[in-house]
Amino acid sequence: ARKLTVVGGGSTYTPELVDGIARLRTALPVEELVLVDPDPERLELVGGLARRILARQGHPGRISWTDDLDAGADGADAVLLQLRVGGQAARQQDETWPLECGCVGQETTGAGGLAKALRTVPVALDIAERVRRRNPGAWLVDFTNPVGIVTRALLTAGHRAVGLCNVAIGFQRRFARLLGVRPDEVELEHVGLNHLTWERAVRVGGRDVLPGLLAEHGEAIAADLRMPRALLDRLGVVPSYYLRYFYGHDEVVEELRTKPSRAAEVAAMERKLLAMYGDPTLDEKPELLAKRGGAFYSEAAVALTSALLRTHGRDLDDRVADAGGGVQVVNTFNNGTLPFLPDDAVVEVPAVVDAKGAHPLPVRPLEPLYAGLVAHVTAYERLALEAALKGGRNRVFEALLAHPLIGQTAYADKLTDDLLAHNREYLPWA
Ligand code: G6P
Ligand code: MN
Repeated sequence: ARKLTVVGGGSTYTPELVDGIARLRTALPVEELVLVDPDPERLELVGGLARRILARQGHPGRISWTDDLDAGADGADAVLLQLRVGGQAARQQDETWPLECGCVGQETTGAGGLAKALRTVPVALDIAERVRRRNPGAWLVDFTNPVGIVTRALLTAGHRAVGLCNVAIGFQRRFARLLGVRPDEVELEHVGLNHLTWERAVRVGGRDVLPGLLAEHGEAIAADLRMPRALLDRLGVVPSYYLRYFYGHDEVVEELRTKPSRAAEVAAMERKLLAMYGDPTLDEKPELLAKRGGAFYSEAAVALTSALLRTHGRDLDDRVADAGGGVQVVNTFNNGTLPFLPDDAVVEVPAVVDAKGAHPLPVRPLEPLYAGLVAHVTAYERLALEAALKGGRNRVFEALLAHPLIGQTAYADKLTDDLLAHNREYLPWA
């Protein structure tokens, strides 16, 4: 029996996940799917569509929804966390007030990302604790941002958790299309921290095709990332689009100051999506969902969950394993993978995933060009976690001062005040 519980199941992303569960049922035979969410109206809309998606695809799994986490998680083999504390309204704030200091306003990077971490870590830990009390064996798959910090919080508290992001699978799909091969033929040498990664090699049949890929399709790849092609050519690697907040910081700030926030865009999209979900004749995920950043999230989540629940490999389709399903890019404890980081830092790297968890593959020494930034952000993440766990103005200040995009006392002080002022209702200690 495979019971899957989705916390934040009322998310507009859920039909994407359910579509993956329906399509990839041989990889992950789900018998029961439970959506848990505090918002009953969203649950009705999203749950109704999820049920129709399963039915249309002839999936035999049962699906239900509830606002009761304890009941919903009871007996679950895996629990997916995909929640957003404070919703798009809180995200809107995270994207806005840092701009006044000339700092990037983004939901996971910089001061906004710290605000999100402070709101989210206590909630994620509370959920994990409740899940563990009922189900000590259950796996937690964390898609909740900021994934690096939340996963570090969960692992440090001793939970069976793996952090997930769709950036790597997005590149894998994109490169496969450009190369004219199947996605499972593309192996990425992906390294760094969540939302701070580089593709250092792209292997097809064991051969690194990245130089050719850049020579032939550099323009298209750079356009996707909104980075200058010359930068990609000079580095010889493909940074994730989150590196734009570092490499092009001031330019991004200028742009963010004048255009509507991503939170506002997403909120408008969500209103449209929820209206569509209420249509009883709709029984597939709408095209509009592809405009969200989480594309391919479902494939990554299904592959990861399937690998974690693979106890004897017999209830699962071995073709999935043969197709590289055993190696996934995940967030997990460093444990020496990047020797210049503490063991309990959380890194995002390819790992063999099995019923015991994620086991990172060895990583070639990281060039100083990237290692410095990775070490710097790791220290920030450590301080961010301390602040989230213990509270206190000075801990918030230290995390901001340690962030490579902030670093000056005057800014760190002002951003601390702004962060606290905008997040009091979520931070009991503030
Ligand atoms: C990417 C990231 C996710 C993030 C999403 C935001 O996919 O990997 O971590 O949540 O973008 O997408 P949105 O549509 O909400 O801007
Ligand atoms: Mn992500």
